[in-house]
Amino acid sequence: MYTVTGYLPLLALLFTVLAFFVSFIRVPGQTETMGKFDYPHARRDETVVDDYHGTKIVDAYRWLEDPDSEETKAFVDAQNDISKPFLEGCPVRKKIIDRITEVWDYPKYTCPSKKGEKYYYFHNSGLQNQSVYYVQDTVGGKSTVFFDPNKLSTEGTIALRGHSFTDDGSLWAYSLSESGSDWVTIKFKKAPSAEDLPDVLKNVKFTSMAWTPDNDGLFYNRYPEQDGKADGTETTTNLHHKLYYHRLGTQQSEDVLVAEVPQHPRWMVGAEVSDCGGYLLLTPREGCEPANRLYVVNLTQLKGAITGKLEYTVIVDNFDAEYEYISNKGSVFTFKTNLKAPRYKLINIDFSKPEPENWVTLIDEDETAVLEWASCVNRDKLVLHYLHHVKSELFIYDYASGSKEFQIPLEVGSIIGYTGDYKDTEIFFKFMSFLTPGVIYQMDMKQPYEPKVYRTIEVQGFDASNFETEQKFFPSKDGTKIPMFIVHKKGLQRDGSHPVLLYGYGGFSVSITPSFSPSRTVYLQNLGGVFAVANIRGGNEYGDTWHKAGTLGNKQNGFDDFQAAAQFLVDSKYTTPNKIIINGGSNGGLLVGACLNQRPDLFGAGIAQVGVLDMLRFHKFTIGHAWITDYGSSDDPKPFQWLIKYSPLHNIPREPKGGQYSSLLLMTGDHDDRVVPLHSLKFIAELQHTLGKKEGQTNPLIIRVDTDSGHGAGKPTKKVIEEIADMYCFICQTVGLVWTD
Ligand SMILES: *[C@@H]1O[C@H](CO)[C@@H](O)[C@H](O)[C@H]1NC(C)=O
Ligand SMILES: *[C@@H]1O[C@H](CO)[C@@H](O)[C@H](O)[C@H]1NC(C)=O
Repeated sequence: MYTVTGYLPLLALLFTVLAFFVSFIRVPGQTETMGKFDYPHARRDETVVDDYHGTKIVDAYRWLEDPDSEETKAFVDAQNDISKPFLEGCPVRKKIIDRITEVWDYPKYTCPSKKGEKYYYFHNSGLQNQSVYYVQDTVGGKSTVFFDPNKLSTEGTIALRGHSFTDDGSLWAYSLSESGSDWVTIKFKKAPSAEDLPDVLKNVKFTSMAWTPDNDGLFYNRYPEQDGKADGTETTTNLHHKLYYHRLGTQQSEDVLVAEVPQHPRWMVGAEVSDCGGYLLLTPREGCEPANRLYVVNLTQLKGAITGKLEYTVIVDNFDAEYEYISNKGSVFTFKTNLKAPRYKLINIDFSKPEPENWVTLIDEDETAVLEWASCVNRDKLVLHYLHHVKSELFIYDYASGSKEFQIPLEVGSIIGYTGDYKDTEIFFKFMSFLTPGVIYQMDMKQPYEPKVYRTIEVQGFDASNFETEQKFFPSKDGTKIPMFIVHKKGLQRDGSHPVLLYGYGGFSVSITPSFSPSRTVYLQNLGGVFAVANIRGGNEYGDTWHKAGTLGNKQNGFDDFQAAAQFLVDSKYTTPNKIIINGGSNGGLLVGACLNQRPDLFGAGIAQVGVLDMLRFHKFTIGHAWITDYGSSDDPKPFQWLIKYSPLHNIPREPKGGQYSSLLLMTGDHDDRVVPLHSLKFIAELQHTLGKKEGQTNPLIIRVDTDSGHGAGKPTKKVIEEIADMYCFICQTVGLVWTD
C-alpha cells in the first residue's frame, strides 16, 4: 500500500514533532472558513503529551478514545450530520442503490459439505440479510432449512460466525455475534433434526470449536470476565486467552480450564482434534505472525477424564515457523509449514520420535508457487491449493508417497470454497474471478479424475463478455515487480480519461486474489470505472518473504508499491491522478491514510474503511496487540522510529503536495471491536483541524459512523449495500463519475 518521494527519515520525524507542537498556532485572518465544508469544532487538549523514548508527542484528541462520553457521542453526531447530507445529496444516489440492489438479487450458494449421512450448504436467495444453512439427503436433492439466522433479529444483525459438527455429524455447535462485534455466544443443536440443546457458552472470542471424538463435549476459548460492558462498543484490551472444555448437558460455570499461558498474556491458545480422534493439538500463537508452538495431548490415554489442565508433549517450543495440521496416520502427523520454506511445504512428524532431526519432507516447497492450503480426502489423497502469480492452482497428490497425480484444469481466478475431508470420497470446490460470479465443481476421488460442474451462479443483467481482466507487473520504487489486476470494459481507450478505483491491503500474510462483487459490476458498467487491485508487499502473494518485505521496519515498501501502482496507471494512460480513488479496509485503511498523507497529489480521493490510523496506540485496545507482529510497538524504541514515520494520525501534511489534501471518506462502525472507531475519529479530527479551514482545501474530509455495525464479518446485506452506495456516491461527487443507464 505505498509511495515514492524524496523521503528523508530525519526530516519526516522532525516534521511530525513540529506538526504536533506548532499546529495550534494560527496566523490571524487565516482562520475563516473558505472551503466547502464547515467542519464541527472539536476541543483540542494539547496538555496530553506522551514521552516515547525521549520524543514528546501531543495527543490532542485523547478524549475521543472514550466511546461512551457525551463529548465523543456529540462529535460522532456532528460528523454524521455533515457526511450524511453530502452522501445522500448525490444526484444519482437512487439509481446507484436501485441498480446495486437489482444486481445483488441473485441466488448464491456455497459448496455442499457431507456431515454424517447428510449434505449441508449455505444459500442466500438474493437479498436475504444473512445466508441460510440447508440440509439435504443427496447432493442436488430436496433441501430443508437447518438454520436461519434471519429469524433471530428483525434487522439481520445477528450473524452466524463459526460452527462445528461432531465427526459423525450428529451434533452441531455454532457461534452467533451481534451487530458485528467479535464477541460470540456458542449454542448447540442435534443434527440433522436441528433440535435445540439447552447449552449456552458466553464471553467467547476468537474461539476454537473442537469436539471430543466421543461427542462428549467441546474445547473452546474465552477471556477472563472483564470490568464494564462486553458488547463490542468497549475498547478494553483482550489478554489471557484461555482454553476451556465444556461437557454437553452441564452449566458453563462447570467448564474446565484446560490450557492457559499466564506468563504470556498476549498469546492465544488454539486447539484442534486430529482426524483419528486420538489427539488434541494445542497451537499457541503470539499474534498474527504465521508461527505457532505445537503441543500434543494424547486423548486416547485420557479416556475422557478431562478434569483440569491437560498434560501435553511439547513438539515445537518456539515461534520460528507455522505448523498447520493436515491429517495423520497413527502417530505420523502431516503439517503444512514455512520452516525454511517461505512458500510452504508439507512435512511428516512422527509423535513417537518427534525430534526435528526425524522430521521428513512429504511435499517440498515449490519454486514459484505458494502452498496456501492442503486437505486430506478419501484417507489416501491430498488436495493442494497453490497461488501462482496470484492465481489459483489445484492439484491431487498421493498421500503416502507425496507424488503428484493430477492438476485440476482451472481458468484464471480463485478457488474461494472447498469441501471434502479425510473420509469423503468426493470433493467440491468453488471457482470465482473478477468476471465469474461462481462455479461449483464436484469431483469423485478416483482415477481418472473428472471434475464436473455442479452449479453455476448467474447474475441477471451482467454480461461478462463486455469486460476484460488484465494482469500487469510494474516496478516499485526499489525495482521489485508488483502484480496488479486491472478490470474494465473491453476495448477501453487508453486516453487517460478513466476513473480508477485502486484497491490494496498489504499485510498479515493476506493475499488479495480475484473475486466477484455484484456492486462492482455497477461501477464498471454504469459508472464507467476501471477497477484495479495492486498485490503489494505485506501479503502472502509470494509467500512469507513477500509478507516480511512489507512489515515492521519494511512497512513503507507496501506504501511505495501502492503509489507506484497509481503512477503506473497514469503512465499507462488509463487515468490521471485526480481520477484515482484509493480504497482499503482495516490494515488497508492504514494504507489509504499513509498514502494520502505522503502523496495527496497522486490521488483524487481515498476511502479508508475501519482503518488502523493511530500507530502509536493501536496495541492498547481490544485485540490490537496481536498486530505487533506486523507493525511493532511504540513501547519499544526501534519500532517507535518506524511507526512515527508513517502513522497516519501523526503525519498529516500541513502543506499538502499538489495544493490540497485528496477527498477523503472514512468509514467505521460503533461495534467495531477489531479496529476500534477511535482510530478514525482521532484521524478525522486532526485532519479537519490541520487542513479543514485552509483556503485551498475544497476537497471534503468526512467520516461516516454507522450504528449496529462492526468490522465487517456478519454484516447484513442491507447494510453492505448502503455502505457501497455511500462509497459510490462519494466518488461520484468528488472525482466526478458520470452515470449511464
Ligand atoms: C434486511 O434487514 C432490513 C433492516 O435492516 C429489513 O428492512 C429488510 O427487509 C431485510 N431484508 C430481507 C430480505 O429480509
Ligand atoms: C497415545 O496413547 C495410546 C494409549 O495409551 C498409545 O497406544 C499411543 O501410543 C499414544 N501415542 C503416542 C504418540 O504416544
